[in-house]
Order: sequence, then C-alpha cells, then structure tokens
Amino acid sequence: MKVLVIGSGGRCHAIVDALTRSSKVSKIYCAKGNAGIALQAECVNIKETDVEALKNFAIENAIDLTVVGPEAALAVGVVDSFREAGLKVFGPTKSAARIESSKEFAKQLMTKYGIPTAGFETFTEFDKALEYVKAHSLPTVLKYDGLAAGKGVVIAETMEEAEAALKDMLLDAKFGEGKVVIEEFLTGPEFSFMCFVSGTDVYPMVLAQDHKRAYDNDKGPNTGGMGAYTPLPFITEEDKAYAYEKVLCATAEAMVKEGCPFTGVLYGGLMKTPSGVKVIEFNARFGDPETEVVLPCLESDIYDIFEAIATGRKIEKIEWSDKAVIGVVLASKGYPGDYEKGYAIENLENVDGKMYHMGTALKDGKIVTAGGRVMIVVCMGDDLKAAQDKVNAEVAKIECENLFYRKDIGSKAFKKI
Ligand code: AMP
Ligand code: GLY
Repeated sequence: MKVLVIGSGGRCHAIVDALTRSSKVSKIYCAKGNAGIALQAECVNIKETDVEALKNFAIENAIDLTVVGPEAALAVGVVDSFREAGLKVFGPTKSAARIESSKEFAKQLMTKYGIPTAGFETFTEFDKALEYVKAHSLPTVLKYDGLAAGKGVVIAETMEEAEAALKDMLLDAKFGEGKVVIEEFLTGPEFSFMCFVSGTDVYPMVLAQDHKRAYDNDKGPNTGGMGAYTPLPFITEEDKAYAYEKVLCATAEAMVKEGCPFTGVLYGGLMKTPSGVKVIEFNARFGDPETEVVLPCLESDIYDIFEAIATGRKIEKIEWSDKAVIGVVLASKGYPGDYEKGYAIENLENVDGKMYHMGTALKDGKIVTAGGRVMIVVCMGDDLKAAQDKVNAEVAKIECENLFYRKDIGSKAFKKI
C-alpha cells in the first residue's frame, strides 16, 4: 500500500516511523516532511494547507491512504476534499474538527451532553466580559475562540492581567475578530488521552503527559511541548475507565447525534481535579509531543488501524506494550521567543534511541537546526526511572551549540500528588 502523510513535525515523523513497521506498507510519502522524515519516507514539497495540490498528488500517485497530522490542514477541509474525490483519508472533516478549532462549539457540546468540563461563558463584548470577570473569583481562565497556535489562553491571577488580556482579545483584535470563552479555573494533574475514533467506535491509546513550560520544574513560558512520557502512575484504571466512557465515548456519540461524526484521533486534554476528571480542551488530531511517546508502544499494525477507522470497519483489538517511554525535546536557544537557525547537529549516530525530527534541514550533507523545536529523543525502559536515566544520557550525547532541553521530563510521575 502507498501512504501519504501530511505534516512536517515530530508527530508526523512518529507516524511515518510507525508506518515503516507495517507489513502492508510499501511506500510512504510525506508532505512536506523534514530532514529526519526524509530518511524514512519520500518528502514531497507541498504545503499542508494546499488542498488541491495534495489531492492531485494523491490521485496521480495512486495513494491508497492519506493520514492528516496537523490541525491547520483539518481546519481548511483537507479531509472533506479527499472524501469528495473518493480518496481514502484518516482524519476528521472540517465540521468535526470544530471540536478543536472552535472552543465555543466544544464547550456547548459538552454542556448539552453532560460531559464534565470547567464552567464557562462566551463573550464578544469587552464591557460584558469584564463585568463577568469582576463578579467571579480569580484566577480566571480566558480563551480566545479560534486557532491561536497555543497562544490564545491566559490564566489571569489579577484583575489587571484579566483586563489587559480581554483588551488584546476583544478590543485590539490581536488575533482577529473573535469571541472569548471565560472559564472556571481548575486544579489537578493534566493528562492526554487520545483515542482512535470512527463514529461511535472508540479505541483508547496509552495515556501520556505533556510538559508545556520551557524550563525545568515547569518554569518559563509556555511552548508547543518540551517532552512527554507514558504511563502515568497517578491516573488509576478507574480514572481511565471514567474518562473513556464519560468523556471520549460520550463525545464521539454526541458528535454523531450532532450530524458531524468524528473520524480520526480524538484527543482529550484532561485534568484530574478534586471533583473528578474534567476536560480542559479537545484536539481533533494526534497530540505533539505525546504521539512521539505513545506510538512507540503500539504493537498492532498502524496501517490496519488507519484503514479501519477511515472506512468504518471494526477493529478486534489494539495491542500496546506496557513499557515506559520518555521523550525529551531539544529546542533552539531563545525558543519560544526569537531564535536563530542553521546550527549543525553532531553525534546523532551515537544516540541509542528514537530520534524524531521536529524542525531540521539538510545543509551541505549535515543536519542543521531549522525551527524552534528541533528534535525529540525517545527512549524506552522497564519503568519510568530507567527510561528517564536512559533518555537523559542519550540526549546529552547530542552536540549542538544552540540547543537546550529539560532534564526533568517524567519527574512528575515520581512525585506524590
Ligand atoms: P488549552 O489551550 O485550552 O489546552 O489551555 C492551555 C493550558 O492552560 C492548559 O494545558 C492548562 O494548563 C491551562 N488551562 C486551560 N484551561 C484551564 C482551566 N479551566 N483551569 C486551569 N487551567 C487551565
Ligand atoms: N500536546 C498538546 C497538543 O498537541 O496540542
């Protein structure tokens, strides 16, 4: 089978890597890919949002299945367009992807179907929003409604911060015309629960936890994710069963009832609060960097899963390894702010672990940095401590003068919560 993967980051590299382990797959293309993906797939220079060019490529090259990675491609309707052309594609339609692209849609769906989440109100007018914030307790959570590349959430500790954020979002149109969802502030450990979903069929993956802050001990600015690990000792089987039924299955059923059945990966960004598991956000795709630690645990053939989900065929069982896996991201110094590109990355050949490239390029035969997050090193162990010792030792072998990384990925699993 010939497969096209759309995307270019670490998540797509992990998907490509999983596809290379399939006995069904003979050829993998990736649009656009990166220098690491190019070692395992043929990279094609088409933008992930260029729907027509992607569709034409799939037709001309007799692609059997296309897998969509990034949210931007989903939000412009890549899946709808492929389906109309009779092409097999793994991912949600534009309408189903609203669960991620519109916070208001997601919140209203959860309210209507009793799916546990933080209390909220939606506002378009600055004065009314400010009045609401003043009448409620701090901290408060302000979310710009739309895709804001992870930068649309502000947790305001003071009234001044809240007012400034509301001004940005509603008066200065910093993100474009929009709405703000104001949410109750929840506490507890966060975790990511991804499921393969086709209509009301929901197949759970192993749980993972992302590390969004730039520096050790959760200090510094929010990023796209500096590392992830699995399993999560503080989430019990009971918590997982509750989240599976009351959140993931309930949401899949709700989407069917609303006339926009979900196909693809439904990602629950959840929090274990003192009053039970609640939804922080949904994504309509594989999480990044969670995918880079979750897919190495998959023992079933991923092509079979993608194909079954895309065509609505039931899956008997998905097999997962119970190994511990930790991934540590190497990012360019300065990220998530300004950073420089083009630094050579050396000694990769001596690293004993998976290396998924996030932002790299090939220059004069050498791998160089080409993005904020550059690569993720992923190691397995019999338990989290073994995986952490291993990954930290392997990351330290990488030589590049312009990279930094966290040394505490996975440590939250050792703390009592
Ligand atoms: P989101 O983009 O919705 O995932 O929000 C980004 C981050 O903000 C989350 O990962 C949480 O750490 C935090 N956050 C979002 N909503 C809430 C909430 N209602 N209560 C507490 N923290 C939140
Ligand atoms: N790891 C969070 C995300 O993929 O959005």
